[in-house]
Amino acid sequence: MDNLISLVNKIQRACTALGDHGEASALPTLWDSLPAIAVVGGQSSGKSSVLESVVGKDFLPRGSGIVTRRPLVLQLHKIEEGGREYAEFLHLPRKRFTDFAAVRKEIQDETDRETGRTKQISSVPIHLSIYSPNVVNLTLIDLPGLTKVAVEGQPDSIVQDIENMVRSYIEKPNCIILAITPANQDLATSDAIKISREVDPTGERTFGVLTKIDLMDKGTDAVDMLEGRAYRLKYPWVGVVNRSQADINKNVDMIAARRREREYFSSTPEYKHLAHRMGSEHLAKMLSKQLEAVIKSKIPGIQSLISKTIAELEAELSRLGKPIAADEGGKLYSIMEICRSFDQIFKEHLDGVRPGGDKI
Ligand code: GDP
Ligand code: NA
Ligand code: MG
Repeated sequence: MDNLISLVNKIQRACTALGDHGEASALPTLWDSLPAIAVVGGQSSGKSSVLESVVGKDFLPRGSGIVTRRPLVLQLHKIEEGGREYAEFLHLPRKRFTDFAAVRKEIQDETDRETGRTKQISSVPIHLSIYSPNVVNLTLIDLPGLTKVAVEGQPDSIVQDIENMVRSYIEKPNCIILAITPANQDLATSDAIKISREVDPTGERTFGVLTKIDLMDKGTDAVDMLEGRAYRLKYPWVGVVNRSQADINKNVDMIAARRREREYFSSTPEYKHLAHRMGSEHLAKMLSKQLEAVIKSKIPGIQSLISKTIAELEAELSRLGKPIAADEGGKLYSIMEICRSFDQIFKEHLDGVRPGGDKI
């Protein structure tokens, strides 16, 4: 199954690369048919913290206010134990980052290249891959935080602009939504739940994550939420305890943070009975399972899309006749070559796979 997810990751990257250069009409459809997990929520709800702990790495720009100003498409690839961990950006092919502080800096710089050093946002995504023995295979999309008012240097339209950008990702039927809601705020004001409910009214593809459980007022707890009585989702809410700002300032590392998170749930009387389904590690496992299920159900559709794309490109090429202008023909040929190789990979890897079947 790991192979299957990493295959889908590759296709997704190729589709974006092709989308940037080619005009093949089938490609956006192909992109849309592949699953990913998007993180949505209000500013400072803990989105970056949740992403980092799912990944098990510190590498995202964080801070108060609007830090994430472009979507970040993050692909995690599991490599064999003992393998050296590294990161790679689509815009910097062949450059391997082993220093994750440099990854954070490159995300910031690449954001600025697109938007200038402003508080403007851009819907052009940054693509980042992380290869590590310590991750599960996942594609995650970090989105700018939903906000209620424009701050200085932002146009008045920014509130709506961010909402529209977020919606454009999460409205896709294949997008799994990670709705980040801070436990120390009124659920009624949760931006994440509001927008998720809009695009996924039945909650089929929404996972509710409750952050900042440790910051709740004394005498209150999140049990009603976590047990689904306050707001019911199809999948059970997952509570997490991320590092506080003080922890970040003290450089508390990820391993210590996860250990503390586990201890928090298993030793707090209110949450003890829920401990087995709380925390970032549990969240990562749940997401991986969900992703597998979605991919399995999509295989026949993706395969037929690829075949259709090949057929269309072949028709287009024969319509142009040979020889063709280097530009036009070359582009179509290379797109077709890529589609063909995917078709081949599908055939090799997935022979005999049927949706709903367990064997891959
Ligand atoms: P984002 O703006 O949604 O990406 O939020 P961040 O992940 O940057 O978090 C915003 C602030 O909240 C940071 O100072 C974090 O340290 C803090 N924070 C996030 N989650 C938790 C949590 O579960 N507990 C505590 N105590 N602080 C948290
Ligand atoms: Na923030
Ligand atoms: Mg953030």
